[in-house]
Amino acid sequence: MFDKKIYIKRREQLKKKIKTGLILFPGNDEAPMNYADNTYKYRQDSTFLYYFGLDRAGLFAIIDADENKEIIFGDDFTVNDIVWMGKQPTIKQLAANVGVANISSLSQLESFIKKAISQGRKIHYVPQYRYDNMLKLENLLGINANAVNNYASIELIKAVADQRSIKSNEELKEIEKAIEISYVMQTTAMQLARNGMVEREIAGFIEGIALSMGNGLSFPTIFSKHGETLHNHSYNNILKNGDIVVNDSGVESFNHYSSDITRTFPVSGKFTQKQKEIYQIVLDAQLAAIKTAKPKITWRSVHLKSALVIAEGLKALGLMKGDMRTAVNEGAHALFYPHGLGHLLGLDVHDMENFGEQYTGYSTKILRSEQFGLKSLRYGKELMPGVVLTVEPGIYFIPELIHQWEAEKKFVKYINYNKVKNYIGFGGIRIEDDIVITSKGCRVLGVPIPKSIDGVEAMSSEKI
Ligand code: GLY
Repeated sequence: MFDKKIYIKRREQLKKKIKTGLILFPGNDEAPMNYADNTYKYRQDSTFLYYFGLDRAGLFAIIDADENKEIIFGDDFTVNDIVWMGKQPTIKQLAANVGVANISSLSQLESFIKKAISQGRKIHYVPQYRYDNMLKLENLLGINANAVNNYASIELIKAVADQRSIKSNEELKEIEKAIEISYVMQTTAMQLARNGMVEREIAGFIEGIALSMGNGLSFPTIFSKHGETLHNHSYNNILKNGDIVVNDSGVESFNHYSSDITRTFPVSGKFTQKQKEIYQIVLDAQLAAIKTAKPKITWRSVHLKSALVIAEGLKALGLMKGDMRTAVNEGAHALFYPHGLGHLLGLDVHDMENFGEQYTGYSTKILRSEQFGLKSLRYGKELMPGVVLTVEPGIYFIPELIHQWEAEKKFVKYINYNKVKNYIGFGGIRIEDDIVITSKGCRVLGVPIPKSIDGVEAMSSEKI
């Protein structure tokens, strides 16, 4: 937890934007795995954490903007609970730790909210993603659980998104702590991988690093020699010399800020010539994006720059042909690069994705594209200092997509299918770092993790 002054300041800033009504912050409860007392690893809601910092199930906070009052609703653990859990701080102590003066028991929550509704006061909340919280809001607000998100407050979403999108120094330090752990996860995977190992042996080992050095993974690790499957969550393949492996993984700091880093490395410690050629194009695209990103330009234009570098590189290898600017404009490069350049990162690995990307990543001026590839760009709008994003271009050879596009004669003007077919079985390559936009450009966060061909080969050759 940060110093209580930070939470007080965040709430004061929010109250400057939301001046009337009740602002509801449902905390997350425990999520049962197979019965109530056997739970998944607890994760507090990120908006709750941002304004109230308390990492405990069974809490609900309210900012009463009309009365300028903040209240934490929760119940102290009983002696019966303490027998199983050990001594626990009281709700009063927890509230004091984050500068909240008023507490109340959960039994008072319903009457408190219903009174406000009967007085015709506005009720604000952000979209919910846990079904138990939707049910809770159904009981409290009288809105069917399935419809709760239709009544989320757009005014609140915009206010919270504006605030959470700009990271303060203490937040950047947290993300950098997470990246330090990512360094260990990435380099250990490179050093551990060898001919004959099953992917899961390494995926499990690096998850152990995330748990022993930080607060565990920030999302399920993507660790696969089938890097052409963008979000591959199975780890059953046997690694062989000659394979390349995509390791897209991240960890939470103890204050719940995420890292999200991808490296692609050769199992044997040496890339083949063919792998090197594709790897270098991806790296050039990533470096070009990092060089281009700065305030006032759109992230979509940075994405398109990375797409152009990829298309030009593939043209130089004979996989694409024609004018690459028009090819990228029309979306032909998406055969190889079917996702976006990057997304917001913070307390969530896709920060505030539950709010809806039309509020966090797009604006009335920049709307999300419907074009294949570009439509997967999660953030398109103008950059501002303090915004933290991932930069993660990639090149993939997806057999099903290649066969489908060829059969449909899609973009035959730009794609040399005969050459592309030689790459079926190649897999995929992605390289990802996390950046913060600064006043003049951007800064790559955290310790450098090897990503040049020489750097990755050197690290992957030092087997442990
Ligand atoms: N790095 C995983 C993701 O962006 O979803």
